[in-house]
Amino acid sequence: MKMIITQLSVAFLMFNAGQILGAQRNIELPEETSILKQSSHPGHQLALQRCSICHSVDYINLQPPEMSLKQWIAEVGKMKSAYGASINDDEIKLIGEYLFLTYGLKLENKSEASEIGSTK
Ligand code: HEC
Repeated sequence: MKMIITQLSVAFLMFNAGQILGAQRNIELPEETSILKQSSHPGHQLALQRCSICHSVDYINLQPPEMSLKQWIAEVGKMKSAYGASINDDEIKLIGEYLFLTYGLKLENKSEASEIGSTK
C-alpha cells in the first residue's frame, strides 16, 4: 500500500513539474501596465527607483487621466505621509510632475503643464 502511495505521489509530482517546466505557453501580458512610461523628465528615473518598492506600477496606471498636477503631487506625497515611502519634498514634486505629464495629461490639464519648469 505504501508503495502505491509513493508511486502515486511521484506521478503527481512529475505531472506538476511537467506543467511548470514543460509548459511553453505564451502568456499574453496586459500591455504596458507593469512598466513606467518613458520620459526624459527627471522624475521618471526617481519613480523607477521609488515607486515599485511596495507595489506594482499598476496602481499608477489605474489612476484617472483627469488627475491634475496638484493631485499627482498629493498622491505621491500620500505614499510618504500615509505609507512611509522614503522620498523627500523635491522628489515628491519631480515624481508628481513626471506622472502628471505622462499619465495625467488630458486636454483640460494642458495649461498646468506650462507651470512645470517655470516653478523650479
Ligand atoms: C512604502 C511603501 C510604498 C511606496 C514606496 C509607494 N507606495 Fe504607493 N501605495 C502604498 C500602499 C500601502 C498603497 C495602498 C495599497 C492598497 O490600498 O491596496 C499604495 C497605493 C498607491 C496608489 C493607488 C491609489 C491610492 O492612493 O491608494 C497609487 C497611485 C500609488 N500608490 C502610487 C505610488 C507612487 C507614484 C509611488 C512612488 C512615489 C509609490 N506609490 C510608492 C505603498 C507605497
